[in-house]
Amino acid sequence: MSYIPVEYPKEKPEFYAMLRRQLALYMGEEQNLTARLANTSAVLAQAFPDANWTGFYLVDGDSLVVGPFQGKPAVSRIGFGKGVCGTAWAQRKSQVVEEVSCFAGHIACDCDTHAEIVIPLWDGENIWGVLDMDSVLPGYFTDQDRIGLEEAVKLLRPC
Ligand code: SME
Repeated sequence: MSYIPVEYPKEKPEFYAMLRRQLALYMGEEQNLTARLANTSAVLAQAFPDANWTGFYLVDGDSLVVGPFQGKPAVSRIGFGKGVCGTAWAQRKSQVVEEVSCFAGHIACDCDTHAEIVIPLWDGENIWGVLDMDSVLPGYFTDQDRIGLEEAVKLLRPC
């Protein structure tokens, strides 16, 4: 399927309704998990123009390993409980960080980053990875984004 540019609405409920429709298009045509995550990272990069990194870290034993993403090269592995991603995994809870320099243990991949959001990916009771997004704008991600993204990533479940 070729990418059809879309104009995302400014209001969050409409924005997330469109984001889910966009993701569903790609999830519907491909069952392979790498393809699903790769296209999701690209859709998110288009939808969030002020995000400088959109992608995934996937559980691999006792660490998270980087998966498909859009952005600058990033740290390959993050330990359980380390950084914002490892904290989301350990606490089993999304993290919304207004200013990463204020988050103890934040792992910096791009010194332009100010805000970050990390959303666990669930398969029943198990976390199999996290969605990670960074922004150059402080306070860019809000609780509305947490709610919208938690709903959106349900489309990604491993097949
Ligand atoms: N900042 C993350 C590391 C990954 S990069 O943002 C892509 C963290 O603290 O876990």
